Amino acid sequence: MTKMTEQVKQGRTLRSRLWFDNPDNPGMTALYLERYLNYGLTLDELTSGKPIIGIAQTGSDLVPCNRHHIELAKRVREGIRDAGGVAFEFPVHPLQETGIRPTAALERNLAYLGLVEVLYGYPLDGVVLTTGCDKTTPACLMAAATVNIPAIVLSGGPMLNGWWNGERSGSGTVIWQARKDLAAEKIDYKEFLAIVASSAPSIGHCNTMGTASTMNALAEALGMSLPGCAAIPAPYRERAQIAYETGLRAVEIVHEDLKPSDILTREAFENAIIACSAIGGSTNAPIHIAAIGRHIGVDVSIGDWETIGFDVPLLVNMQPAGHYLGEEYYRAGGLPAVLHELLNAGRIHGDVKTINGKTMAENVRNAKASDADVIWPYAKPLKKEAGFRVLRGNLFSSAIMKTSVISEDFRKRYLSNPDDPNAFEGRAVVFDGPEDYHARIDDPALNIDENTLLFIRGVGPIGYPGSAEVVNMQPPATLIKAGIESLPCIGDGRQSGTSGSPSILNASPEAAAGGGLALLQTGDRVRIDLRKGTADMLVPKAELDRRRVALDEAGGFAVPKSQTPWQEIYRSLTDQMAEGQVLRGADCYQRVAQT
Ligand code: FES
Ligand code: MG
Repeated sequence: MTKMTEQVKQGRTLRSRLWFDNPDNPGMTALYLERYLNYGLTLDELTSGKPIIGIAQTGSDLVPCNRHHIELAKRVREGIRDAGGVAFEFPVHPLQETGIRPTAALERNLAYLGLVEVLYGYPLDGVVLTTGCDKTTPACLMAAATVNIPAIVLSGGPMLNGWWNGERSGSGTVIWQARKDLAAEKIDYKEFLAIVASSAPSIGHCNTMGTASTMNALAEALGMSLPGCAAIPAPYRERAQIAYETGLRAVEIVHEDLKPSDILTREAFENAIIACSAIGGSTNAPIHIAAIGRHIGVDVSIGDWETIGFDVPLLVNMQPAGHYLGEEYYRAGGLPAVLHELLNAGRIHGDVKTINGKTMAENVRNAKASDADVIWPYAKPLKKEAGFRVLRGNLFSSAIMKTSVISEDFRKRYLSNPDDPNAFEGRAVVFDGPEDYHARIDDPALNIDENTLLFIRGVGPIGYPGSAEVVNMQPPATLIKAGIESLPCIGDGRQSGTSGSPSILNASPEAAAGGGLALLQTGDRVRIDLRKGTADMLVPKAELDRRRVALDEAGGFAVPKSQTPWQEIYRSLTDQMAEGQVLRGADCYQRVAQT
């Protein structure tokens, strides 16, 4: 090891000096330097010990949810410059939730891999992670965890509230209702499009507590962004102001050598799990949190979500679990006000360190909510026990259910048997992927009625590469017209964080990986028990064994061919959802030494 590499390892000098000011290797130093001078940077800026801060840019024309980060980056640069650093902005592989096929989940690990190589391979002393749309936040945090150089999250913030006919029109939530109205022929296609578009009135990410708002809140709950960052709506002046402050702080954390591993501790992850229940967060959170944990070396199991998070009450009255949207949530105090309630109730670890150098308790001690109808007090919550239920049985080793969105109607229809109020049984109707579902859902031969449980399989990480957000299936149009707007849905895929459906989802292992769902047949009876946490096909073991042999003889559960090289690579390496859907072997990639 050269002298300078040794000094970098010991934290006595900046890693960018290995490129720009390395007496051990003058030839390479000259080569590195000359090209970064060619657009006007001076030798002095690159060699006088100023920290070089990357701005990992996730916004582009392809990623509208994060596109205003292109503007915000100007304020980040000014902050970096004012704090004595030099900014290098660079692109992250585009990750737009709604615009990419087959699934954005397939691309999360690709964006992660790309960002890891950039952070490792270029002369960066620290990095600002520009987050927003669903997968951009975990992809950036996973990469920062792996390379473990000083890193700070800058959220892009939600869109302004949408409005339609005087009612709040929220991202995703409005679609789920409007598509039922379209199926019931209450509206036509033109009106359907207009209603959906009303939910996206400005720059920013989804304005509901979908996966974007959830993951940005959890980045803050983990301690990786400045306090209050996540909830500021994208167009507000405070958003550009916090961009500037994030730039300032990015330089300081390099001087302090404050790394992700100093912040992303087991306690920080427990705080994130608890915060997720209190905000009514997305069912995608367990996958992403497990993935971030694996890359920093903290084990967060699917069981942790129930043992740590289930009995936490719902405090945030925001769609899909509640009523309001991002603007009210921000005005009521945002995540700091939620954490304030949780801290006073003794639910979160207050002594964990956060990115501003203070503890979580110091950050949120005085952050009292200003509107108790938007952020409810811990002692008088919107709902008790708002976390995820983890279910297990012969259908899968684990799946989750978001109990905070179980409606009164659902409760009455499925959970009101006085002898057995936590369990329901029904006849399974099984679809193999969304195309099969769309082709057959209205087929009268399926005999779908209110005692039917809808299953979808072949939509997990391997089956529909990345895993599709399709488990919240709507019933046949005839049932919707008769007033039955939802049926219990179960599957090895995911659903949008904006969906208010209490589906049983994220089933692991998926059918394509040999999970029990592959053995299920239309007509089987299935029993779900929410108290015991079980989900089982009521099919004799001998019959299941027979089906398993037949499936193996047929070559296993059929999945469609890969259409791109990355799909093939991804399928051969991905873990299941319960493990975070990371690439197998990726745990050992953490490069703690910053050389
Ligand atoms: Fe990008 Fe929801 S689709 S944030
Ligand atoms: Mg989504």
